[in-house]
This record gives sequence, structure tokens and C-alpha cells, in this order.
Amino acid sequence: MASIYDVAKSAGTSIATVSRVLNGNDRVKDSTRRAVLKAMEELDYHPNTLAQSLVRKETRTVALVVPDISNPFFPEVARGVEDMANRAGYNVILCNSDDNMRKELQYCRVMRTRRVDGIIFAMVSSEASPVRSLLGAGMPVVVVDRDAGDLSVDAVVTDNGQGGKLATQHLVGLGHVRIACISGPLSAGPALARLNGFRQVLEPRGLFKSEYVVEGDFRFSGGYEGMKRLLELPQPPTAVFACNDLMALGAMLYLDEAGLQVPRDVAVVGYDDIQVSSLTRPRLTTVAQPKYEMGWMAMEVLLKRISRTEEAPQRVTLQPQLVIRESTVVVERRK
Ligand code: RIB
Repeated sequence: MASIYDVAKSAGTSIATVSRVLNGNDRVKDSTRRAVLKAMEELDYHPNTLAQSLVRKETRTVALVVPDISNPFFPEVARGVEDMANRAGYNVILCNSDDNMRKELQYCRVMRTRRVDGIIFAMVSSEASPVRSLLGAGMPVVVVDRDAGDLSVDAVVTDNGQGGKLATQHLVGLGHVRIACISGPLSAGPALARLNGFRQVLEPRGLFKSEYVVEGDFRFSGGYEGMKRLLELPQPPTAVFACNDLMALGAMLYLDEAGLQVPRDVAVVGYDDIQVSSLTRPRLTTVAQPKYEMGWMAMEVLLKRISRTEEAPQRVTLQPQLVIRESTVVVERRK
């Protein structure tokens, strides 16, 4: 297997110059760069990045840990992370914790042995023990989307309480008085915050009823089962706020199977604004999250943390936005 010495000899230059070409240093004549690249191709040379990282004490690799890669919300966040990382010359290792804290801990151990330069974390639970262990070990960490209030760590989140209020105010504004909520798993920070927003709008109006709140799991099946339970109530709701789009779509399927019309019989609001939500019929009213921007900004904050570890943690809170579509508002068909 060819070495850096063989490349330098073949290209008629020094090892230092080959190293500068490998690191993208622009202080190399074009003709020399071309000779080095030609030699690398002819010799089928691949730099030993592990050896390089031990010397540089950095791997220029970060990890992104998400709870459910099958949920379209997270790939949009990951895209923002990867675009920013790529622009900064970093690689990204994607880890799916499957809503399982044991898997989160396992990934923390693996990423530390892989000597990643930092980790962006969307936590399963606001209990956050995996993130606490990483911080204790001096690993640069940024939590994205899901945070734990008592944790002193860089965070890029959206205002989930405000998002819950936007969804609920919309339904109140339409005149609904029997309004239900299918929440996310209440161990997850955003789920609890959205439910609190829902409650803060209804309680002052005397419209909050605990029997109209069912705990879901942020998955399609959780919305389907939650809607089933709500329709079994003596006085079923006429409107439902599902705390993410996958559950809203599950609820809409159940309503369809029960022969009920959306929004005529039951209005439905989701949360996230994943791509499919604008393709359903009726199209889903939802609370849009700035998914890509969250990922991009989380990587920006992580880069700052990697280079300046002593600074105080930074918290970025982005704003959600209500997107009104036909799952809550009947649109008169053009004649
Ligand atoms: O859809 C998955 C949910 O989990 C999203 O609402 C996102 O905020 C994450 O917390």
C-alpha cells in the first residue's frame, strides 16, 4: 500500500507539500497540486485519517443523535446539520436511538471511542442522563429540538409552548368548544410544552377537560389509537390538536374509517409541517417548525463550542408558525 513518502517521490515534491494538498491548503502551485493528485491516483493512495486525527487531536467528525429517523421531521433537521458541517469541512455520523435511552447511552460510549469532535443531540427524554454523561466527560454537546430546562448546555430549540397556543387559539377561533389533544410522550420536552400551551389557552375559557387529553407517542399509530379513544367519549370532541403531524395523519385515518368528515365532523391540527402534510386530502393544518434552520444553527453553535469551550452555554429559540389548510377550515369549492 502506497505511503505519503511514495506520493511525494512520485510527484517530485516534499512530504510537507503533499500534506498541504491533502489539507486543502491553497499555498501550493497549481502544477504541483496536479502532480500530487496524479501521483495519488496512480498509486491508489488514501491518507491514514486515523493517524492524522491522533496528531491533530481532532477527527473533524461530529455525531447527530436523533430518537426516530423514520419520522420525516428528523431528516430535515439532519439535512441542515450536514450542509453546515460539510461547508465547514466536517463529516457527520447519524445515530438513531429508537426512542431508547439505553441506545442513547450506547451511542455516547461509541462516539467517545470514535473521538468525534462534538455531538448534536435530540434527546429521547428530558431526564437527559446520556447528555449529562457527555458533558461530564468534556465532550462538546449541543441539544437540538428537545432540551432539559435544568441542563446547562448549548441548545437550539423552538418555542413549543407558543406552538401549542397557536394551534389551540386557531381551533377556539373557529368556534370549537369540545377541543381535544393527542399529546406526544410526556417524557419528551416538546410534548409537555405543547400540551401546556394547549391548556393555557383553554383553561381561562373554562374549556379544558382532562378527559379530552390522551397521551400519544409521536407515531402514526399513536394518533390512530388516540382518535379512537376520543371518539368513544360520551361527548366526542369536534376538534383535535395532535402534537405532531404523524399522529394527526393517524387520527385522520381513523376518522375516515369511522365515516367521519374532516373538518366538517372533526377538525384536525398537527405539528411540524412535514412534507406529506400538504399532500393529504384534506391538506393538514399544522404548526410549522423551522427544521432545516434548527439543524444548520445547531451545527454553527457546535463549531463555536468546539473552538471555544470556555464560553457560557448559548440558547437559540426559533419561532413556530401556524399554517392553515383544509383540515380545519372548509374551503368552498369554486363553482
Ligand atoms: O415529530 C417528532 C416530534 O419530535 C417533533 O414535533 C419534534 O419537535 C420532536 O421533538
